[in-house]
Amino acid sequence: MEFVFSEENLRKIENILKKYPVKKAAVMPVLYVAQEQNGWISTEVMREVARILEIPEEDVLGVATFYTMYHKKPAGKYHLQVCTNVSCMLRGGYAVYDAVKNKYGLKNGSVTDDGKYSLEEVECMGSCGTAPMIAINEDYFENLTPEQALAIIESMK
Ligand code: FES
Repeated sequence: MEFVFSEENLRKIENILKKYPVKKAAVMPVLYVAQEQNGWISTEVMREVARILEIPEEDVLGVATFYTMYHKKPAGKYHLQVCTNVSCMLRGGYAVYDAVKNKYGLKNGSVTDDGKYSLEEVECMGSCGTAPMIAINEDYFENLTPEQALAIIESMK
């Protein structure tokens, strides 16, 4: 299905483009706007971003696949990213990951039937000093026990 930016987001993109010397450099913020609107970065989204920025679709694909903040498939209302990289692993990252997985019947990359939660096991998110951590959409929660992680997730409305 074709993806079209809303009028409001087209205005946002216009403003973003003013901050960059060349359109191509704006690929990350424009992808971010697209994800906010669509919930994830589909092929159609990449095609439209490439068209607007006048760059090859492969360039958009390269950026979208490199960064974990871009969802390559539909995500839940609350996208749960649990780090299991070294520091988090040593401080209980897998216990947090397993607790989330089991509580909501999720696998890596899946979404709950009601569309509320999706789970992703991720590499280091830069919070090693306060490991283990979980990101819920853009917010980081750190120094967690599995119980604390579940309580935070449950508190999301
Ligand atoms: S290892 Fe988990 S945030 Fe760095």
